[in-house]
Amino acid sequence: MTQKRDRWPSQLIFIFAAVGSAVGLGNFWRFPFLVGKYGGGAFLLPYLIILIVMGIPLLIMEFALGQRLQQGAIGAFNKIHHKFSGVGLGTILCGCLVSCYYAVIMAWAIIYMFHSFNLGWGTDTKTFFFEQVLHVSSGAAEMGSFNLPILAALAVSWVLVYFCVWKGVESVSRVVAVTMPLPVAVLAVLTIRGALLPGSWDGVLYYLTPNFAALLDDDVWRAAMSQIFFTLTLGFGVMIAYGSYEKRDSDISRNALIVALINSGTSILAGFAVFTTLGFMSTVSGTPIEELAASGPGLAFVVFPKVLTLIPAPNLFAVLFFIMMVTLAIDSLFSLVEAVSATFLDRFPHMSKKVTSFYVCAFCFLGGIIFTTSAGIYYLDIVDHFVTGYGLVIMSLLQAVVVGWYYGADKMRDYINSVSSWKLGPWWSTSIRYIVPGCLTLLLLMSLYRDLTTPYEGHPPAILFGLGWGSVAAVLLVSGIFSYVSSQPEEAAEESASEE
Ligand code: PHE
Repeated sequence: MTQKRDRWPSQLIFIFAAVGSAVGLGNFWRFPFLVGKYGGGAFLLPYLIILIVMGIPLLIMEFALGQRLQQGAIGAFNKIHHKFSGVGLGTILCGCLVSCYYAVIMAWAIIYMFHSFNLGWGTDTKTFFFEQVLHVSSGAAEMGSFNLPILAALAVSWVLVYFCVWKGVESVSRVVAVTMPLPVAVLAVLTIRGALLPGSWDGVLYYLTPNFAALLDDDVWRAAMSQIFFTLTLGFGVMIAYGSYEKRDSDISRNALIVALINSGTSILAGFAVFTTLGFMSTVSGTPIEELAASGPGLAFVVFPKVLTLIPAPNLFAVLFFIMMVTLAIDSLFSLVEAVSATFLDRFPHMSKKVTSFYVCAFCFLGGIIFTTSAGIYYLDIVDHFVTGYGLVIMSLLQAVVVGWYYGADKMRDYINSVSSWKLGPWWSTSIRYIVPGCLTLLLLMSLYRDLTTPYEGHPPAILFGLGWGSVAAVLLVSGIFSYVSSQPEEAAEESASEE
């Protein structure tokens, strides 16, 4: 017997939850480091173009899928046709892979939270981060030993996430009411603080001055695309699950627009906080901004602590900042656990939510242990590069093709328009049928060419193969087999719409 589907208590809570999922370490840790890596303003333009051309139409599509079919990712695609169940499973698997390393970054933030009471990182924040916190090895080939404090913090992360999510929508609703607005408020304070520092204007210029020549670099486009998928939590099955807790007549396009705008607004604001302070650091230390900005995945943990020690009331700002990083990560992570358990519960309605969520957390914790080794940061960067650049992209491509060509983009658009205040024109169907699949295929081919000809960041091919290509291949293989098995007549699940 199917349980009654969970429901968001109100539209506002739904928006909070979806924004909570979207706004996360992707905005504070990933966005600034990509902006730094790809040369400031050079990254911003492709980012905004991809947001409009692909991000918003796909977010509308994911909300609509969940809300229309009242199922998590696997159930939704299974309902369209059994043979597409694998698309749903693939999105969930990508999400699990991302969560494994995402929780490790949350673990770093927990460690920093403790150090922030006495600003334990001292003046050389780079050495502190890489040597004292990470015990980083010389390269991906040298795995080194497990780092116990990070491992312990990783366990704490998952316990926190588990307790936030274990009652499903009810507890999620309560948690997001705090974890969503708090970071935005702290960010506003930090941005104002950053703007008042001497030299901040140089940082702003670096951040905002567009570089039209960079538009010809396919690597920038690829990074912008993977960032949009990551940041809007697209291709993870999360937005489908969240949409499925909405009533069938809730406004879709307005909600999607609000979520996308708040999310990118937060990223852009976080960029101001980072680059104004980078401008200040560059003025104080005499090091060029480009050099300071190119710290890769360590940027947030090298730059923010540094900046925090240079401003008045450093302890207060530091504690606030790292609490914010942790709360940001929590609501993103539990959105994922929620998506996975929603999917399981659709298929096995007799299972309890607490047990399912426990297994998901335990599984992702175990998967994350490898990132707590001395080579963890390299592995993390590799898995992030491949899973976001291929996994999320392939899954979103398949989703767009299934909805656009099999389910019918116009049929979905009619539904969206029947419940939404902002009516979508034929552009939306065109986007889902042609523009999104076309652009994604092109970028995928370009990425493939680049990654097959140049090893990513010069890492050893065996590790790229095992961790990077291996993760993507595993997702595709398991999803393919699942689709095949699900499309066999005896396996065809008799899904029933749970409501209305
Ligand atoms: N959108 C999240 C962010 O930007 C990413 C994310 C969500 C990752 C859910 C994992 C699970 O941080």
